[in-house]
Amino acid sequence: MSDHQRPGDEGQRPAAGQGIVQSDQGVGPWPGGRDNWPDDDRFDPELLEYGDRRNVVDEYRYWHVEAIKADLDNRRHPFHVAIENWGRDFNIGSVVRSANAFGAAAVHIVGRRRWNRRGAMVTDRYQHIHHHETVEDLAAWARALELPIIGVDNLPGSVPLEHREFPMRCVLLFGEERAGLSPAAQAACTTIVHITQYGSTRSINAGAAAAVAMYHWAVQHANAPAAGEPESER
Ligand SMILES: C[S@@+](CC[C@H](N)C(=O)[O-])C[C@H]1O[C@@H](n2cnc3c(N)ncnc32)[C@H](O)[C@@H]1O
Repeated sequence: MSDHQRPGDEGQRPAAGQGIVQSDQGVGPWPGGRDNWPDDDRFDPELLEYGDRRNVVDEYRYWHVEAIKADLDNRRHPFHVAIENWGRDFNIGSVVRSANAFGAAAVHIVGRRRWNRRGAMVTDRYQHIHHHETVEDLAAWARALELPIIGVDNLPGSVPLEHREFPMRCVLLFGEERAGLSPAAQAACTTIVHITQYGSTRSINAGAAAAVAMYHWAVQHANAPAAGEPESER
């Protein structure tokens, strides 16, 4: 199977080196033109025709957004990510992008509905994003699904993340860049964990903290390849 193929795609995609022109900006038109197009409705005719410059992994090259989203739905992890949004924090986009990368079930924006999408680099299109007016709304939703809310902030009384096992099913809740976790958010958490720091700054930014926490969940629960094992053989 080539780098571009997925199980079940055998015979549809050209083998590596047989025509797909890869560059830093993605791939060019499907080699061989229309006569050679795969007979599979996951593929987007426009992308096949003109090339796929999106920031997607090779296995999703030329796929419709909806087809990618549906495929991701089959393998999203059972942790959720939530972030407070009282002042249009620029970190939210980066949290959404990391949530996509680490396979979060969904992202929950708490507070203002509008958020700065810039750092998301379009990953929000592939992600389930829910809005909750208040932290209490988020907490009620989580309670109904029996999902514990784990706060992530370096607050007095928080415990080091490094020695904690995250529950498999949970919500990781992050605060705003300026204010950190609000008192209401703190009250909704079953535990608050902090990422141990070693320098002079009080904190890292919320986007960076979210990536560290999601990585921590993934190290504990996700099916990462064993050392030396190619990802395609998982
Ligand atoms: C810039 S921090 C602000 C608040 C911080 N409590 C303070 O004392 O300055 C914004 C958000 O980033 C996350 N964060 C930043 N540094 C963190 C750390 N060391 N451990 C856990 N979360 C952190 C938290 O979610 C926090 O709410």
